[in-house]
Amino acid sequence: MSAFEARVFSGVQPSGNLHLGNYLGAIKRFAGLQSTHNCVYCVVDMHAITVWQDPAHLQAAIREVASAYIAAGIDPKGSIIFNQSQVSGHAELAWVFNCIARMGWLNRMTQFKEKAGKNRENASAGLFVYPSLMAADILLYKATHVPVGEDQKQHLELTRDIAAKFNNDYADRIAELDLGGEEGYFPMTEPVISGPATRVMSLRDGTKKMSKSDLPDLARINLTDDADAIAKKVRKAKTDTEPLPGEVDGLKERPDAANLVGIYAALAETTTADVLKEHAGAQFFAFKPALTDLAVAKLAPIADEMRRLNNDPGYIEGVLADGAERADAIARPVLQGVKDIVGLLSSRK
Ligand code: AMP
Ligand code: TRP
Repeated sequence: MSAFEARVFSGVQPSGNLHLGNYLGAIKRFAGLQSTHNCVYCVVDMHAITVWQDPAHLQAAIREVASAYIAAGIDPKGSIIFNQSQVSGHAELAWVFNCIARMGWLNRMTQFKEKAGKNRENASAGLFVYPSLMAADILLYKATHVPVGEDQKQHLELTRDIAAKFNNDYADRIAELDLGGEEGYFPMTEPVISGPATRVMSLRDGTKKMSKSDLPDLARINLTDDADAIAKKVRKAKTDTEPLPGEVDGLKERPDAANLVGIYAALAETTTADVLKEHAGAQFFAFKPALTDLAVAKLAPIADEMRRLNNDPGYIEGVLADGAERADAIARPVLQGVKDIVGLLSSRK
């Protein structure tokens, strides 16, 4: 048993075009964890500006992620919903972690390589140290569990490396100040990456991740798509010509088919194996309409609620302000402990 109280933390960037991958891989699962855990859900606006964001769009996108959280069933009173830049501890702890993380560790991050592309010299320094800020997000709340999609696994491993190095470098000081349990000052956070849709793929190419920046729009189901758009995208989704197999093994080497079955399973809250049992032998001309009906039934109410909330920016901003205050109340003593441990002097406690 960990000495740390269980707490869930996760975040989504307000970088536009929330899609089915964000929903199934992250936001839907955030909502599900509320019945068993204390949950803190962040709109990570400081991560978003590691690449250029139009300022007016950014503010709308921050409200949109918050409304997606609420529309997907996250309770802004029971859980905490806030945006990162309103709690200054994220930036402060990220600086300390920039001094803990090694260049070599950051150099290995595949997301940086993908996002920076060929022109690495021209990437922002923020994009390079992005994982230190992510570790700060999590550890500022001593979070023990972090639900994310598969693509974030490497960043969570780095978070554990940073926590371990901090605990180890300052072990004597942590003991002297009596600030740590058996594990140290920070917990070894567990990634929560489970279920049939931890990596939702493009509808146009089952070997590529569905992403916010995918072109064309047909590759991605947006959370705000209406029933017609969903139906069209599923109808045009790439498939092969074989019927569905009866067993999971039969989906090997069939990435487009595996993707659609995985999406179906996640939306229906069941397993890929069960979907195949039910649809064994089905051709895509029969399976696709079933998938459309299911996707519309599950996603349309979310889109409706997001539209309703988007018309009420005052409410959303109230939720974010209240969340920031409650988040700050947890973060403040954790950050104070870090300052004491590191030896930064603060006379205003
Ligand atoms: P981002 O859009 O990069 O801020 O991602 C927000 C959350 O959605 C993270 O937990 C990601 O791992 C998750 N996510 C993003 N794209 C996908 C995808 N295609 N499939 C599953 N999860 C995803
Ligand atoms: N890097 C994550 C992504 O792109 C977003 C994120 C930022 C995050 N801070 C986090 C996720 C903390 C989980 C916990 O998807």
